[in-house]
Order: sequence, then C-alpha cells, then structure tokens
Amino acid sequence: MLPSSDQNEILKRRTFAIISHPDAGKTTLTEKLLLYGGAIHVAGAVKSNKIRKTATSDWMEIEKQRGISVATSVMGFDYAGHHINILDTPGHQDFAEDTFRTLTAVDSAIVVIDSAKGVETQTRRLMEVCRMRKTPVMVFMNKMDREGKDPFDLMDEAEKELGIHCTPVTWANGQGLKFESVFALNNRPAELSEKLQEDLEMIDGVYPEFDKEAYLRGDLAPVFFGSAYKTIGVQELLDFLVENAPSPLPVTAEERTVEPMEDKFTAFCFKIHANMDPNHRSCIAFFKICSGKFLRNTYYYHVRKDQQMRFAAPTCFMAQKKETVDEAFAGDVVGLPDTGNFKIGDTLTAGEKLHFKGLPSFSPEMFKYIDNADPMRQKQLEKGINQLMDEGVAQLFVSQLNGRKIIGTVGQLQFEVIQYRLEHEYQAKCRWQPLQMYKACWIESDDDAELDTFKKRKAQYMATDKEGRDVFMADSAYVLSMAQQDYKHITFHFTSEF
Ligand code: G4P
Repeated sequence: MLPSSDQNEILKRRTFAIISHPDAGKTTLTEKLLLYGGAIHVAGAVKSNKIRKTATSDWMEIEKQRGISVATSVMGFDYAGHHINILDTPGHQDFAEDTFRTLTAVDSAIVVIDSAKGVETQTRRLMEVCRMRKTPVMVFMNKMDREGKDPFDLMDEAEKELGIHCTPVTWANGQGLKFESVFALNNRPAELSEKLQEDLEMIDGVYPEFDKEAYLRGDLAPVFFGSAYKTIGVQELLDFLVENAPSPLPVTAEERTVEPMEDKFTAFCFKIHANMDPNHRSCIAFFKICSGKFLRNTYYYHVRKDQQMRFAAPTCFMAQKKETVDEAFAGDVVGLPDTGNFKIGDTLTAGEKLHFKGLPSFSPEMFKYIDNADPMRQKQLEKGINQLMDEGVAQLFVSQLNGRKIIGTVGQLQFEVIQYRLEHEYQAKCRWQPLQMYKACWIESDDDAELDTFKKRKAQYMATDKEGRDVFMADSAYVLSMAQQDYKHITFHFTSEF
C-alpha cells in the first residue's frame, strides 16, 4: 500500500468528462468550473475545441483547431481541498471514437443537456458508452434562462432517452426570462410561489431521494438545473460533484483488478495526439494512471514492447497550461512525449505484465478502400497507415478475400485528415474507393464448425482487424439480419469488446 500522504492525494482526485451534443454548453460550463477553481480569471479563456467543418481545403483551420484541443485535453485545478481533472472530449461527431476512448479514462461524467432541445443524438450515443461501463453520471439541464421544455418533461425525457433513473438535486426558480436562481431540494426557500409549491409536491411524490450508492453503481443520475452562461446552478453542481463523485476507481486488467491505492504504478494509454506540424513529428501519448504514483525519470515497463522506458519530460495539465511534472497520482493523466513507441491501449507498469481492458472499437459508420496512388512510396504509405491506426485515427480492416485495405471511420472528415496527414507527414499519396458497407461485426461462436462454415460461405465479406480478429463486413442491414437468422450460434457484436 502507498504511504497515507499519497493515499490522501488519490482520494482528493475527481477525474471526469463533460459530454453533450455540440452547442449544449459544454465549453461554457467547463469555463465556469475553471473560474470557480481559480484556474482562469476571465470568461472567454477556454476555447471551444469544436472542429467546425470548413471548406475542404482549409486545413490550416483544422490544424489550428486541433492545436486548441491539445491545450484543452485535460484541465486540472484545485477546488475545496480536491484536485479536479476535466478530460475534454471533441465536439465534432466525426471524432466520436476519440470521445468513446476518453470515457474509458474517467471515473464519472457530467451530461449537459440543452433544456430547449432535450436529449440529442450525440448525447444518447455517449450515454450508451457510460451505461456499458457503468460510469456514474450527473445531468446538468442547461440554458434554463431560455424558454425551454418543462422541467418535468425534461426529467422524463432524460430517464427515457438516457436509460437511467433520474432524481433532481436542485430545482429552477422560474424559467426563461423569469429564471432567477436555483435552490437545493434539501434546503428549500421559506417563501414559495404557488407554482413552486406545486412543483415540490410533485417532486416529493414522484422522485426518490438521492441515493449515493445507486449513483456510484451507475443506476441513478442526480439532476441539476441552471445556466452555464449566467453562472447559475454551476456551483451547486461542482460542490455536489466534489462531495459525491467517486475518487479514482479500480480498473480491470485482463489478469486482475487493479486498485488505485496499490503502491506500484500502472497506467494505460487512451489517446495519442499527433503534432500536425510535419517538422516536428512527435506525439503526446496520454496515460491515465490507474494505481500508485508516477515519477519523472524513473524506469517503467512498457508491456507490449517488453521494454523499460523512462520519461524526462512528462507533462500534466493545470488549467490550460502544460507543465512538466515530477510526480502524478492515480486518477491523473500524464502526457508522455512520444516518437512512435505507443499505441492506444498500451500499458505501463512497474514491472508486472498487465493488459488493461476496456478500450473497445466500435463499428465504424463509413468505409472506403484505401489504395496507393504513388507506387514509389508504398513503404511510406504502409508505415503511415499503421501509425495513424495506432493513434486511433480510424480503423483498418484487411479483406480476407483479396488483401485490400479498408479504412473505417465515424465521419467523412477523418478520411480527409488521413489523406492530408499521409501526404504531409509521410509523403505518401492515397486514393479512396467508396465501399457500400453497413456495419463491421466482430463474430463469436461456441460452435466452431458453424463458425468455419460461415467464414467459408461469406469469404468475400470477411476481413481481419488490426488485432487479427475476424470481422464480418455486412453490406446491408438485411444481409446482417439474414446472417443472424441462418447462423443461430454465431453472435454478431458491434464492438470489439465482448
Ligand atoms: P458546446 O461546447 O457544448 O458546443 O457549447 P458552448 O459552450 O460553445 O455553447 C454553445 C452556445 O450556447 C454559445 O453561444 C453559448 O454562449 C450558449 N450557451 C451556453 N450556455 C448557455 C446558457 O446557459 N444560456 C444561454 N442562453 N446560452 C448558453 P454562441 O452564440 O454559439 O457563442 P457565443 O457567441 O455566446 O460565444
């Protein structure tokens, strides 16, 4: 076990992500939380990392925006005796895969909902990941200063659409132009308008009291109302989070469960951020510390490479500044400068051979064949594709029929980023060929004979993923449902982790 002073450091950590549909107010809320932490002093200091779809040729714009997102990757600050780490998630849905991976590195999440729009698509998808991982979530109903949906309807919608029980912790005094303040339901104002009295009777009749255990299990979401823009209801959220959100949780590795208080250091890589400047082809590999304490210039074991490595310039993130750190604790994220040693999912330890689980690949939404457009640069193209896939930019499948490479992404923008980076960082040229494809399904069966028959019959639709797993590339929902009907002993998974 770690010495008690180090254990205290770990207990102080609150590491979470804010997730929302673009425009719901994530950036504004983040900024207000940083203001409370004294980490910034003026509003407007946090730049949105929204990657807006610009004219295709405007790559500088995307570079600039990616630059911003590295600065806001992790925002650490101290508040009320605690150390808060907010992990940022990209706003653009074409980078949803990045967000999914970031969610594997947090101990809890805040879901921001625009009270005029209710639960939107992106929020629903991100919440699915939280549910899958049983991540404790809090809900912030934002923009109560605008005319929006009725608070009870919002509560119903959140329960139904997010698939989680909800109970309010604060309640709004008015809405739209009449919105003035919020109050904690366990500390009600003495004077109540008739409307509020009715509301409270209804709340008492319908909603259970907040149950911390149920929240920590991921079964119950406490709900807050407010306006990030007007800084109303934000402090209530932050105080509640500090009090109730979990300190670093145990993390499951293939071999065993790792407890944060173990004295030996362990961490896994959940994100790699490339420098888009071709003259500095270095990356930052982001590691979430799962247990113990990380020290600068100390040898750690890179499990996949079976190699000891030490880091002279690890960085941590305080507010929006990247700083070299000498030590960091379970719950923290350290950025390690990297020149191609790391892949998403890599594990660092003090010597133990551990492999952390829980970095699933999701079926991409779009697929294209990638072909070499410059025969003299075949090697560079291969290298570039492999490194970009290791960074998690997109997924690579190789057709078992003809060996052609298929790239799967969440959105069109990723194809553009890949092509641009191959050209600028690897001097390689690629060509895309459209591919009509519905889903990539990882297949599994207890019945080896049936699995074999399936693979033979469907040879032209079979591909291999980066880890060597069999993937069935269904070209339509119909083909998939026929396959499911015909091969009852085969399970078709839409994520690589099952
Ligand atoms: P995002 O990161 O989730 O994409 O959202 P962001 O915070 O950038 O907010 C999106 C827009 O919603 C911004 O307006 C922001 O000012 C506004 N907003 C955020 N919270 C509230 C709130 O509580 N009430 C109201 N009325 N508006 C809110 P914008 O016009 O796009 O940008 P800006 O010109 O205000 O910066």
